[in-house]
Amino acid sequence: MTERELLEYALDAAKRAYAPYSHFCVGAALLTADGKVYTGCNIENASYPATVCAERVAIFDAVKDGERSFSAIAIVGGKVDDVAKGELSGECPPCGVCRQVMAEFCRPDFKIILGAPDKFGVYTMDELLPHGFGAANM
Ligand code: THU
Repeated sequence: MTERELLEYALDAAKRAYAPYSHFCVGAALLTADGKVYTGCNIENASYPATVCAERVAIFDAVKDGERSFSAIAIVGGKVDDVAKGELSGECPPCGVCRQVMAEFCRPDFKIILGAPDKFGVYTMDELLPHGFGAANM
């Protein structure tokens, strides 16, 4: 699975976002160590804190299926009209809560792919969540 392919899965998922409040659509595509793809989109709620991010939808769906080993996640985001047209401008970095959830399940060599299928950056967990809290701190 190439970075580009994983970003295409994320874009497809972003098109299914339920974002009537922010009008900002996010899609995530999570690649398991054995090559399966789980996708997620943001799902908003009239009670704003009940909103769930695209990344956590994908990760929780995979964990629910018994998956625990992941090699990469691709994340895309943009305004609803741009996402509908497949026009992505720039990177959509994951929020702090999603970084924490990624750190729970993802190996040190896990790759976070941000951007668009034709222009993206690849980051590590250490870059996105340096000195994070984990099981070793308890
Ligand atoms: N959002 C995500 O889905 N993932 C993130 O990591 C950042 C933010 C969503 C939540 C909300 O529906 C919208 O983007 C605007 O914050």
